[in-house]
Parts: sequence; C-alpha cells; structure tokens
Amino acid sequence: MVHLGQLVLSLLPLVFWSDQQNPITNPLDTSRLHNGFARPVDVTTTKSIAIVGSGSGGLAALKTILDLPLETRAGWEVILYEQRRDVGGVWLPDPPGPLPTLPDLPESPLYPRLRTNTPHPTMTYPNFTFPPGTSLFPQWDALQQYHADYAAHYGLNEYIRLNHTVVSAQWHGHDEDGDWHIEVHAHGGDDGREVVLKRTFDHLVVATGHNHYPNIPTWNGTVAWLAGTRPGRPARQIEHSIYYRNPEAYANQSVVIVGAGASARDIAIQVSPVARVAYQSLSNGSSPAPGATVVPKPRISHFTHDAIIFEDGSVLRDVDAVLLGTGYEFRVPFLCSPHASTMDTDPYTHSTSPTAGKLTSNLRYIFPLHRHIFSIVPNFPPTALAFVGLPVLIANAPSDAAQGMFVAHAIANASLLPSQDEMMQELLEHEAILRARGYDPYRVGHRLLGGDTEAQDYQDQLVEYLKKHGVLPDDGKKYVEDWRRFARLDSQLLARAWKRVEQLREEAYWLAGVATEAEWADLMYRLADWQRDWEEEHGQVAFAGAFQAE
Ligand SMILES: Cc1cc2nc3c(=O)[nH]c(=O)nc-3n(C[C@H](O)[C@H](O)[C@H](O)COP(=O)(O)OP(=O)(O)OC[C@H]3O[C@@H](n4cnc5c(N)ncnc54)[C@H](O)[C@@H]3O)c2cc1C
Ligand SMILES: *[C@@H]1O[C@H](CO)[C@@H](O)[C@H](O)[C@H]1NC(C)=O
Ligand SMILES: *[C@@H]1O[C@H](CO)[C@@H](O)[C@H](O)[C@H]1NC(C)=O
Ligand SMILES: *[C@@H]1O[C@H](CO)[C@@H](O)[C@H](O)[C@H]1NC(C)=O
Ligand SMILES: *[C@@H]1O[C@H](CO)[C@@H](O)[C@H](O)[C@H]1NC(C)=O
Ligand SMILES: *[C@@H]1O[C@H](CO)[C@@H](O)[C@H](O)[C@H]1NC(C)=O
Ligand SMILES: *[C@@H]1O[C@H](CO)[C@@H](O)[C@H](O)[C@H]1NC(C)=O
Repeated sequence: MVHLGQLVLSLLPLVFWSDQQNPITNPLDTSRLHNGFARPVDVTTTKSIAIVGSGSGGLAALKTILDLPLETRAGWEVILYEQRRDVGGVWLPDPPGPLPTLPDLPESPLYPRLRTNTPHPTMTYPNFTFPPGTSLFPQWDALQQYHADYAAHYGLNEYIRLNHTVVSAQWHGHDEDGDWHIEVHAHGGDDGREVVLKRTFDHLVVATGHNHYPNIPTWNGTVAWLAGTRPGRPARQIEHSIYYRNPEAYANQSVVIVGAGASARDIAIQVSPVARVAYQSLSNGSSPAPGATVVPKPRISHFTHDAIIFEDGSVLRDVDAVLLGTGYEFRVPFLCSPHASTMDTDPYTHSTSPTAGKLTSNLRYIFPLHRHIFSIVPNFPPTALAFVGLPVLIANAPSDAAQGMFVAHAIANASLLPSQDEMMQELLEHEAILRARGYDPYRVGHRLLGGDTEAQDYQDQLVEYLKKHGVLPDDGKKYVEDWRRFARLDSQLLARAWKRVEQLREEAYWLAGVATEAEWADLMYRLADWQRDWEEEHGQVAFAGAFQAE
C-alpha cells in the first residue's frame, strides 16, 4: 500500500523563516528554544493547545474550549492549524483546476451535485441553525457556508491559522509531564514561499477527519485489465469515489460501482441514469441503492486482461469503469513514521487495546482510546492527545460539540477523567460487548453500530459525565433533544416528504416563518405527519433517499 500522506508531504520544500506577524510562532526566538522548538513567547501562558483541522470537529473543539469560564482558561493559548484555504473541511471544495491523480489526493471528496442525505437541522451544532429558507436537504455549499458562519459568529477566526499544515507532532516527556514538539508548514503567502514553524504545545487536539485517505482494495489482474485496449471504447479506469465529480464522465459507459455505503449509493443514483449499464458489486447482505437502476453483482474475485470475474463465477467483459465506494482509512500521517513515533499504522497489527504499548491505527480503528477521544497509552498523559470527530454513523456536529466539551473540561482539570486503569477497563468492557454481539471491535472501529440510538446515547453520556462531576449545570435534560432523535430515525420519511414538497413546488410555503431551532423541529414534525398520512392512503413511493441536485 502506498503511503499517500508521506508522498504528498515529501514534496514540500523546507525553508526556515521568521513569522513576523505572529510572534507566538516565531521560531527564531532562540531565548525560548527547546531542542529547536520555540516555547510560547508570552511567559504568562499557562497552557498551550494546538487543534489540527477546521472542519466540523476542529471548529467545535475550538468553540467549546473558548466557552470555558474565563477564569478557567485565563492564560491559555489556543491555536487551530488548518492546511487548506478556508474552514469547512469536507464541505470546502477543491480549488478550481484539474483534480490531482494518484498518488496525489484531492483536498476533499466533495462533488458538485452533493446534497445532504440527512435533514440539516440534525446536522447543526446546538442552538446554531441554518439560515431561514434553507432547503431541508441542502446542497454542499450551504454546509460550507454554515461552518464559515459558525466560525465568524463565535469569533473563532482569530485563533485559526489557514494554509498551515501540521507535518509532525512528537511527545517529549513521560507519562505525567512533557510537551509536544510540533512542526507546521505555512504556505500560500504573497511570495509563495514555504515557511517552517517549530514550537511546543501542552495539548494536541486532532480533528483531521476520516474521509481523506481512500481504502483501495487490490485484486489480481487489474494491471492487465487496465492495459487492455478496445477499439472505439474509452481507456478503462478504476477510480475511488474521492475522485468522483460528475456523472457525465460516465455517459454511455458500462460501469461497476463497488460498495454499498453512502458514496457508492449516491454515485449509483447519479451515474446509473446516464450510464449504458450500471452494476453494483455488493457484499453478502447489502442491497443496491433504492431508486438507482443497477444490476446487482456479488463481490469481485479478480480481473483478467479482458474481463472482471465475480465471486459467483460470473464474468463481465464490457466494463469501461470501476468506481470504488470502498470507504476510507484512519490515518494521521503527522503522528506516524517517518514524521513522528506517536502512533503506529499497521493493518496487520497484532496489538490490542491492552497490549498496545503505543497508540495504533489498524486503518479502521485507532486504539486504545477513552470513548473515542483520549489516548490511554503509557507514553503520555491522557489529556495530552485528544481526537474529535472519530465516531462514524453519527450526526457529527452535535457529537463534535459534546466531544469538544469533554475535551475542554478534561484539559482544564485532568482529574475529571477516571484513572488510566479505569479507562482501560471501560474500553475492554465496550470491546467485549461488541464481541458478544458478534462483531470484531477491531473491524467495527469507530462505527456506532447500534443505529441512531447508540449514537445519541454516546453524546448524552459524555455530557452526563460532565454534569455528574459538576462542571456543567445539571438542567435535568438530555443533551440530544427529542427532535434530533426523531429526525435522525425518520430521516428517510422526511426525505420522501421533502421530495414531495419539491415536486409540488411548496418549499416556500413550508419554510415560511421557520427560523429558530424550535421552529425547524416543528417543521420536521409537521412534515413527518403530513407524509405519514399521505403514505397511509397512497402507499410509500420508492425514493432513493438521496436528492439529485440541479
Ligand atoms: C461526501 C460526503 C458527504 C457527507 N454527507 C453527510 C450528510 O449528508 N450528513 C451527515 O450527517 N454527514 C455527512 N458527511 C459526514 C461528514 O464527514 C461530517 O459531517 C463532517 O463534516 C466531518 O468533519 P471533520 O471535522 O471530522 O472532518 P473534515 O471535514 O475532514 O475536516 C478535517 C480538516 O482537517 C484538515 N487537516 C487534515 N490534516 C491536517 C494537517 N496535517 N494539518 C492541518 N490541517 C489538516 C483538513 O484540511 C480538513 O479541513 C459526509 C461526508 C462526506 C465525505
Ligand atoms: C441561542 O441562540 C440565540 C440566538 O443567537 C440566543 O439569543 C440564545 O441566547 C441562545 N440560547 C442558548 C441557550 O445559548
Ligand atoms: C492561502 O493560500 C491561498 C493559495 O493557495 C491564497 O490564495 C490565500 O490567500 C491564502 N490564505 C491565507 C489566509 O493566507
Ligand atoms: C493471484 O494470482 C497469483 C498468481 O497467479 C496466485 O498465486 C494468487 O493465489 C492469486 N490471488 C488471488 C487472491 O486470487
Ligand atoms: C454508446 O456506446 C455504444 C457501444 O460502444 C455505441 O455503439 C454507441 O454509438 C454509443 N452511443 C452514443 C450516444 O455515444
Ligand atoms: C455469500 O453468499 C453465498 C451464497 O449466497 C455463500 O455461498 C457465501 O458463503 C457467502 N459468503 C460470505 C462471506 O458470507
Ligand atoms: C478537578 O476535578 C476533581 C474531580 O472531579 C475535583 O475533585 C477537583 O476539585 C477539581 N479541581 C478543580 C481545581 O476544579
């Protein structure tokens, strides 16, 4: 497997330069140099925190740290490094121009026709709604704007360094004390030069997302298959969904879409109407995207110079393109060799949570972590390193905010966390419960499998813990409101309702006067009732569960 992150990073030139505008990160302040890494310049700094990433997770982490009582965070220095030109993470499209090709990766998997597959009120941070008039299932640009608005509204931008790539983070110290030596490359300045900043931080919050490093399966025979030429047909291709942009690229082609996750389904729905024929290759037990006109196929066995052979022995000779909706790997290159030795990445590791001497990613699961957040390893204290945004199959903005509060309060007072032994015990119990349900926790990874209920309970438990320990007021309420639970559980019903609203061109009627969180919740309840009544009378009209953007 090509180590994509390293390939990309190895292209960066190294230039040492003093960051005049930002004395905090001035690497040439030798009076405060520590093994070449500058300490915070302001001697009154009591705690320094680096957050990596300004997608949904990083913004939530920053906001929740700033929400701590002023007396608690007095003297704290918080910097968020974001490698891209703006905030928003996956919702910020690639810059204009041709897409990179392997081994280089696009900045985002976003494609122009992306509309959310969940109603936007379920994708909000607490008490920060989308603007009035926003379609219930908006296009990607509303999501990007939402994140930019959130950053502006809460004054986050002054803490954010755009065009700053964290390239390594190495702990210097032991299990109770020490600091991170962090190397950051700044780019995009007027003179186009790369700037290398090196400095220390007490805490590192990693919010780098998990839709960036494609999981690309390998099959025998792909090289010969790709090389095969056919008169009058386009060159064959095998492409991961991170490179997918427009269905027109597959017009009149014969395509095989591999997988049954969100990307594969959305691509099947978009490509099948324009393709000559679309097949969807599925594992046992998964079904093709409803509403997509695909021919289901089993898993691919291998390729030959002129055919694709499936596990049931069936053969396809006419295929032009194979589109891999095969998901992503959990990688954090700046924590790993050759940049640092904070984390091991090994898909074949024999480590387990209790035996790992070090933080480990098997590409599906980063372990051992306390509640998918804090590392429980012998090398450094748990609050030294936190992840925000790892859980999968969850409405992530509210989850990011809950995780952010948990991180902020634990950084403020590490005694809030259980002992390392207790945290490990809790993790082993969690892994045992998964095994008892027939799952391998090292394959399940950060997926919250119990459906929306488990995902909502996870967030409630984080906040409950903080209330129980007296750092959040106990208002007697659950963190995840009932309307969020209902709208996630009924998001397919709401999608069918909204599809009908659009067919009737009644968007303006339904959206009139809807502005506050309570009004959005009420709109969704009304829509669900309206749709249920209609379906009782007319039956359920099959609907793909994804919207075609115009
Ligand atoms: C195509 C697609 C469609 C989706 N649709 C939905 C949907 O309809 N509904 C839903 O609920 N969820 C959806 N999701 C889930 C979505 O991933 C989350 O909603 C969320 O946006 C992820 O946020 P994040 O902050 O965890 O990660 P990201 O958005 O990936 O942000 C991570 C940020 O970290 C930065 N970064 C990474 N490495 C470094 C580094 N070394 N130095 C500096 N910065 C770095 C990146 O540039 C990026 O900006 C979708 C995801 C994808 C990919
Ligand atoms: C929610 O947001 C509104 C509008 O910004 C604000 O007036 C209100 O105080 C907020 N409520 C809470 C509980 O934060
Ligand atoms: C970031 O870099 C881009 C070019 O890649 C540049 O256009 C933009 O102005 C830079 N932004 C900042 C804040 O430096
Ligand atoms: C791939 O091909 C090689 C050589 O032809 C063979 O030994 C191997 O078993 C094949 N692997 C799979 C998974 O089919
Ligand atoms: C579609 O492809 C077929 C098979 O190669 C070809 O015969 C046909 O002319 C194509 N149609 C269009 C509209 O390009
Ligand atoms: C998949 O299903 C087929 C037939 O339905 C069966 O023969 C095969 O063993 C199954 N494979 C797995 C991995 O479950
Ligand atoms: C830190 O948390 C512990 C455990 O909840 C508590 O006993 C202690 O008083 C807290 N310390 C401070 C300074 O708040």
